[in-house]
Amino acid sequence: MTEIQANQPVTDSTEAITGGPHLIALRDVGKHYGNVIALSDVTMDVDSGRVTCVLGDNGAGKSTLIKIIAGLHKHDAGTFSIMGQDRHLTSPREALDSGIAAVYQDLAVVSLMPIWRNFFLGSELRGKFGLLDVKKMKEVTKKELLEMGIDLRDVEQPIGTLSGGERQCVAIARAVYFGAKALILDEPTAALGVKQSGVVLKYILRARDRGLGVIFITHNPHHAFPVGDRFLLLRRGKSIGYFEKDDITLPELTAMMAGGAELEELAHELEEVGGQGARIQEIRAAEVEAPIVH
Ligand SMILES: Nc1ncnc2c1ncn2[C@@H]1O[C@H](COP(=O)(O)OP(=O)(O)OP(=O)(O)O)[C@@H](O)[C@H]1O
Ligand SMILES: [Mg+2]
Repeated sequence: MTEIQANQPVTDSTEAITGGPHLIALRDVGKHYGNVIALSDVTMDVDSGRVTCVLGDNGAGKSTLIKIIAGLHKHDAGTFSIMGQDRHLTSPREALDSGIAAVYQDLAVVSLMPIWRNFFLGSELRGKFGLLDVKKMKEVTKKELLEMGIDLRDVEQPIGTLSGGERQCVAIARAVYFGAKALILDEPTAALGVKQSGVVLKYILRARDRGLGVIFITHNPHHAFPVGDRFLLLRRGKSIGYFEKDDITLPELTAMMAGGAELEELAHELEEVGGQGARIQEIRAAEVEAPIVH
């Protein structure tokens, strides 16, 4: 794995609390696809041992943002730096070599293959005469999963037999094992039930505690708030807020995500057509007071 070239001169604004450069720093980053401005003026930081959450509704620009960081797309405005060095990544391979791993919601796993084969897919361990070192790979898979707190009886079972949450966890453990410094999780809890989501949130914290800088993409503030250290809120490609945990509460985050002003506008419109506008405002106010936990 190529090492990140550290110790490049950095400005104060791109420095982490520790004094060194941020693992990843975005400053006023923008991206357009033809005439569509998918992202503009986005600023955020990712640091080792911290979780940066990116929140936003459909079409907010979340995937565009992580595709830039994961090397799938190039930004066309602002700066993107890794350890204080300006970068324009040209491929996911380059991102990986810089220590950035991405786990996508539709995990690229081979369902019928054993867990250990999926764990080492594309990076198999080989022993004498170039033969696959199956024993070692099974041992490492079991050990690495155990260290993430996943105790599987049999790493020989097909990965397809695991639940969605467990599969996400295997992918996280894999990224940790292969030396990722930053881990991007694109809506890992979106398709999961309450209990499974809790399991994935726990492994996000495990990855953080092992020193990774985690970027957690979600549209659910109730998932983001308990695990996040900082929160970037996107709407229609623009940042509508960037907060450290101490500077925002869960009800405030929820209200911002729900698009407070837009809901009020909708309430007025419904009122005009004889709908339940007042009732919507009441429900919203109640939700801000006592958020509904999903
Ligand atoms: N390859 C593309 N070509 C043209 N427009 C695109 C492309 N990818 C994204 N967009 C547009 O950019 C905007 C942001 O999209 P993006 O996929 O980043 O949003 P998102 O926050 O990930 O949404 P979702 O929650 O639905 O996944 C949208 O208006 C989308 O239609
Ligand atoms: Mg998306």
